[in-house]
Formats: sequence, structure tokens, C-alpha cells
Amino acid sequence: MLKIAVLGVGRIGRMHAENIAAHPRAELAGVFDVLAPAAVEVSEKLGAIRFDSVEAVLASPDVDAVLIATSTATHADLIEQATAAGKPILCEKPIDLSLDRVNACARTIAGSGVPVMLGFVRRFDSGHSAVRRAIEDGKIGELHQVVITSRDPGMAPDAYVEVSGGIFRDMTIHDFDMARFILGEDVAEVTATGSRLVDPALMERCDDYDTVSVILKTASGRQAIINNSRRAVYGYDQRVEAFGSAGMAISENHPLNHLRLYGDSYTDQAAPLLNFFIERYAEAFAAEIDSFVDAVEQGKAPEVDFEDGRQALILAEAAIRSIAEGRTVRTSEIG
Ligand SMILES: NC(=O)c1ccc[n+]([C@@H]2O[C@H](COP(=O)([O-])OP(=O)(O)OC[C@H]3O[C@@H](n4cnc5c(N)ncnc54)[C@H](O)[C@@H]3O)[C@@H](O)[C@H]2O)c1
Repeated sequence: MLKIAVLGVGRIGRMHAENIAAHPRAELAGVFDVLAPAAVEVSEKLGAIRFDSVEAVLASPDVDAVLIATSTATHADLIEQATAAGKPILCEKPIDLSLDRVNACARTIAGSGVPVMLGFVRRFDSGHSAVRRAIEDGKIGELHQVVITSRDPGMAPDAYVEVSGGIFRDMTIHDFDMARFILGEDVAEVTATGSRLVDPALMERCDDYDTVSVILKTASGRQAIINNSRRAVYGYDQRVEAFGSAGMAISENHPLNHLRLYGDSYTDQAAPLLNFFIERYAEAFAAEIDSFVDAVEQGKAPEVDFEDGRQALILAEAAIRSIAEGRTVRTSEIG
């Protein structure tokens, strides 16, 4: 049994704590949150120890590994502390909003040999990963284009958006990683555009965009097209399409159920989409824990690692520069 402690038990940390507690080869070693009531609630619900500091978690011989689900600004510090303590890490995305800080963190942990896995959960979605397998198995011939649609069901609260670091670092970061995962090749060029269509006043105030499109191009000419919106009135829209010389593979949306209704004025009426990431990617979040346990127990490299987190942030920085300067940006221009 791998004994994993969870740091930060807010919206996503409590779900991770539940998944660890339910995992057949993992044990919830305890939880810590700077907000004591959140930690009390989760520790009581799951019968887990409540630690009173990060230091206590990292010093405990009963903690084999940590899952970092705290606010983004704390991730890099916690990765450095956990690495120094020799505890394998599964860290939520993004590593940090600043590429300089991510690079400094990379230098600090270099050579430690402590596994650091990044929480790019969508790689563990059975549909999205099947698209990649179809490409690897030659089912669609030579890969030419990837189309990633990722639209949230509704605008996040103002307070969240204000500190999110902007749509590219906060939301598109998942799609940048998915594009890298499906393309199977480094991205050489980034061209982006953004609009303020959902909440123009908030976006103006935050110097952010709620509607963006990005084109990524690899050295061999493969393209990935990402489209994001902060609000899709019909629900959480998550689709991945790969188009190649011999066919196409699509990972479709997940409806609440598979009922199809037919009547005198409509046909093929489907159920609404699963509402948001905790529901839509429930299976993937569980598979992510599985992959982490495998990596640590078997001494394998994590399936998605620190460098994947850094590369996704480089693409976010390139997209931001592309809009600011109105041009295509080469990834080699970014730190
Ligand atoms: N993979 C995904 O799809 C996904 C989805 C949502 C959020 N996230 C990421 O997960 C992280 C947490 O997001 P959230 O929505 O759960 O936020 P949240 O604000 O609901 O929870 C964060 C928790 O961390 C606690 N915390 C802050 N600093 C701490 C510290 N130093 N030590 C211990 N606890 C601390 C806070 O008190 C809070 O309870 C963010 O980095 C976010 O980007 C990832």
C-alpha cells in the first residue's frame, strides 16, 4: 500500500483524497490544509489523520508520497520541500504561473531522483488516450491535424479569474498538454488570438480573454488547433479529434446517459453533457492515481512529468506573446 498524504483539500484536493482512500493499492496517509475547517471536514469524513503543518507531513515516516492540490502559487515551493524530503509527488497543474519560477524549481530539484508527476488528468481519459493509441497503431495513417475543443460550462467566479494567471496559463494549459500528447512531436510555432465575448468588463479589467483560438505547428508541419470558451451554455464541451492521411479518430463528449429521444417534432434528442471536470473526468482522475501508484511502486518514470508541465507553460507564454505582438511566435523564443 502506498501511503499518500494530500496537501490542500479544497475543490479538487478533497476529490483526490477520496480517490486515494478508495484505491486498492493506496492509503490516505493524512491531509493538511492551511484552512483548518476544510482539513477537519475531510479527515473526519475519510477517517484520515489531520496534520498541522507541511513540515509534519514531510517528516512523517508514515507518509510515502504527497499529492499537492493547494493553490497554484504554493506548488513550486511545495515541490521543492517534498523533493528535499525524498517524497514522490503528484502535483496539480500548473506548476506555477511564472516560467522563471518553474525553471528555478527545475534547477533546484534536478538530480534528486524523486519522481514528480503532473496532474494533466485528461491524458488518462479513456477516449482521449484511445485517440493517441489509434495514431500509434497506424489506424489513421500519417497524422496531419489535431482539433481540440475545450469549453467550460460557465464563467468561473470573478475572484478566481482575477488570480488565475489568464486563460492560457489556467485553462488552455490542459489543451496545450493534450496537443503535445496527441501530436507526439515538439511544437515549433504558436499563433493565437483572443476575444472578450462572454464577460467583456471582467476580461478588460483582468487583461484576459474568455474566447481563444490557438494554432500550434510542429517542425514536420503537423498542426493542432485549440478552441476554448469560458462559457458553453450546453455544458462542459470536451472533444479531441485527430485527422490523418488514412482516416480520423474522435474522442466525443460524455452525456449524462445514453438515452436518445424521438418525437413528432424532434429526433435523436440526447441527454445534457456531464457538468464539469470532476464529473466528466471522474474515471480519469482515478486512473491518474493508479498511474502514480504504479510509477512509485515500480520505480518507473511518471507518465506525465515536471517537464511536461514546463513545456505546456512555454506554449502558454508563446500564445500570450503571439497576441501581444500580433504574430506567430517560435517556441525557441521563450525561455
Ligand atoms: N486538473 C484539473 O482539472 C484541475 C481542476 C481544478 C483545479 N486544478 C488545480 O488544483 C489546484 C487547487 O485548485 P482548487 O480549485 O481545488 O482550489 P481551492 O482554492 O478550492 O483549494 C485549494 C486549497 O489549498 C489550500 N492551501 C493553500 N495554500 C496552502 C498551503 N501552503 N498548504 C496547505 N494548504 C494550502 C487552501 O486553503 C484551499 O483549501 C490549483 O492549482 C488548480 O489550478 C486542477
